[in-house]
Amino acid sequence: MSQRLQHKIAFITGACSGIGLATTERFIEEGARVLAADIQDDAGAALEARFAGRLKYAHCDVAQPAQIQAAIERAVAEFGGLDIVFNNAGAGGQRGGMEEMTVEGWDATMHLLLRAVMCGTLYALPHLKARGGGAIVNTSSVSALASGFAPVAYSTAKAAVLHFSKVTAADLARHRIRVNAVVPGFIATPIFGAGFGMDRQASQQLAATLAERGGSLQPAGRTGRPEDIAEAVLYLASDAAAFITGTHIVVDGGLTIGTRASWDPAAPRPLQEALGLTPEALQALAQQRAAALNPPSPPTS
Ligand SMILES: NC(=O)c1ccc[n+]([C@@H]2O[C@H](COP(=O)([O-])OP(=O)(O)OC[C@H]3O[C@@H](n4cnc5c(N)ncnc54)[C@H](O)[C@@H]3O)[C@@H](O)[C@H]2O)c1
Repeated sequence: MSQRLQHKIAFITGACSGIGLATTERFIEEGARVLAADIQDDAGAALEARFAGRLKYAHCDVAQPAQIQAAIERAVAEFGGLDIVFNNAGAGGQRGGMEEMTVEGWDATMHLLLRAVMCGTLYALPHLKARGGGAIVNTSSVSALASGFAPVAYSTAKAAVLHFSKVTAADLARHRIRVNAVVPGFIATPIFGAGFGMDRQASQQLAATLAERGGSLQPAGRTGRPEDIAEAVLYLASDAAAFITGTHIVVDGGLTIGTRASWDPAAPRPLQEALGLTPEALQALAQQRAAALNPPSPPTS
């Protein structure tokens, strides 16, 4: 087994479920020690027991800056330093568009998804500097790249996470700290059910349904798994990505390649439909064009 994160100490938020959990497991597999931060204390205790000696759990509501700071200090106290930060915890935030928007919902979403990423960076900074450098990976989303994937507040926060990753990469380069983002597409995790107000168990069930039925949502033909994102985060956090900073990796099974018509032969062709051109009419036109370009050869005798 390779040990790409041997001797590394990582701080991971949202470590008890989905993408954060898969990343925690992958990091430990690769030799890291992990401070797992989350608000699911039972799951955190189970993780501590499962990875005794390699993982400590801290209750940490990332909407509370003081709790982020305390969890990072705990990582340093438990393991003796800090090399990697994965600012990942999140939820759907304020639902809907502008007609459902409230100032309180907007602020809460920004605190959870954006201010938390800033705080994770801010409070880790002295410790990463003390180690002579480090790697920060922030979780953004395809909703940062285009509309139609998530509510307005969530999408705006995730776009800001992307830009924050870029400007802090420039700002912290002199300290040999790399900052990158990962941009997941539809990943089968409980986040969707939780966003609909379901309890944890129902949300897990919905994630399983998405994994089973969501294949047609993207060109790759299957729904994304938390492990798909963990692999990209591992790469960005490891020394294999030593020359990569200020950018992002999109892990979306091709979801953002283009319109559905660009990759699905069975999808409606909006332009052709608007022009009233049926597949049969297009076929006849193509045959006429081929015949004009390749007229039959005259008989030779
Ligand atoms: N699943 C997707 O399709 C998808 C797509 C794009 C981006 N993301 C992002 O990935 C990240 C992880 O989400 P996931 O899909 O693994 O969901 P998830 O629900 O499986 O995991 C989120 C974790 O964050 C924790 N969390 C929520 N609020 C918290 C808070 N205030 N403080 C600390 N921890 C908190 C939850 O307890 C949970 O363990 C989020 O930032 C999410 O926005 C997910």
